Amino acid sequence: MGVFLFLNHIYQMAEILEPTDCNITRCKEHLEGSKVVAVPTETVYGLAANALDEVAVKKIFEIKKRPLIDPLIVHVHSSDQIAFYAELNQLAKKLIKEYWPGPLTLVLRKKSKIPNLVTANLSSVAIRSPQHPTFRKLLKALPFPIAAPSANPFGYISPTQAIHVQRSLGDKIRYILNGGHSELGIESTIIDVQDENKPTILRPGPITCDELEQKFTRTFFSHEEKSGHSTITAPGLLDNHYSPKKPLTLVGKNVLQDLLLKNEHSLMNNSAILLMKRPRKLKAENLFWLSENGDLNEISKNLYHILRYVDESHYSELYIEELEMVHLGVALMDRIRKAAN
Ligand code: TXA
Ligand code: MG
Repeated sequence: MGVFLFLNHIYQMAEILEPTDCNITRCKEHLEGSKVVAVPTETVYGLAANALDEVAVKKIFEIKKRPLIDPLIVHVHSSDQIAFYAELNQLAKKLIKEYWPGPLTLVLRKKSKIPNLVTANLSSVAIRSPQHPTFRKLLKALPFPIAAPSANPFGYISPTQAIHVQRSLGDKIRYILNGGHSELGIESTIIDVQDENKPTILRPGPITCDELEQKFTRTFFSHEEKSGHSTITAPGLLDNHYSPKKPLTLVGKNVLQDLLLKNEHSLMNNSAILLMKRPRKLKAENLFWLSENGDLNEISKNLYHILRYVDESHYSELYIEELEMVHLGVALMDRIRKAAN
């Protein structure tokens, strides 16, 4: 009986597939059969389905328990395909030339080929061409684009490793294509470019506002700055969207350092303390750090992994140190704030 249950359990757990040609073909066939697979991207792992197949797309919403009002990103292999699905303008073309394939999602006017289920009935569609070589191989082999949100239960921390997907959605899908640790570690930058005169960053991400403004010598608006516009708020901008299960408190840099230096963290033994860089003088079991020296790319790569790790550990509460809101720090603080709500 025990053995039977054990085997049954194994059978029901999603298989992590190494990215061989044969396994990519398995995933392709699964997707062609209106099924869902988890795929690696350079940002976070995605839960993929045929974007032109409503039966398949519906499964994404069910598996994630995601409300149907939250639209999905459509992933294409190359910019050649975009004209079938969205209306391009000059600014979109320039952004694509500069950043695709890569962590940039563009919100454009939608064409009718994309089912309304994908876009939550909006007149726009979010599209990106990802960079991860394994996902690109799969996309190239497919005759359709892929709808894929992050492969986490709705509201939980996004996955940056195959094992994260297996832990939280493993009983609901058959295959997870392994692509290693997602290099960037946070979700793509989303820009609404429907109005060429008012490109608006709906979600800050790895491609920063600073970089965009410098490269294009023009203003990119942030979502809050753009008033009187009727675009539906990206639910990714809602508070409390990437949260661990345990309470997470955001603490000012100096406050935390003071507490730690005064050794008051011994009072916080039951709490995990997440620092942005390795502490030089302090040693304690409940201290975790997101980078060696405060490098923002390293922090970004590790953020979700470490949040998950401490969330699954025995600590009952989590504290995280604040970051300066410059460059990638803007996107990181956006995610940390939402997680800490
Ligand atoms: O890096 C990423 O973008 C990852 C990987 C898997 O590609 N995907 C991802 O998808 O983060 P998701 O579904 O977790 O977040 C997509 C966000 C949601 O907040 C959604 O509301 C917003 O994009 N979105 C999608 N279509 C939109 C549209 N037409 N207008 C405005 N926001 C849109
Ligand atoms: Mg998500």
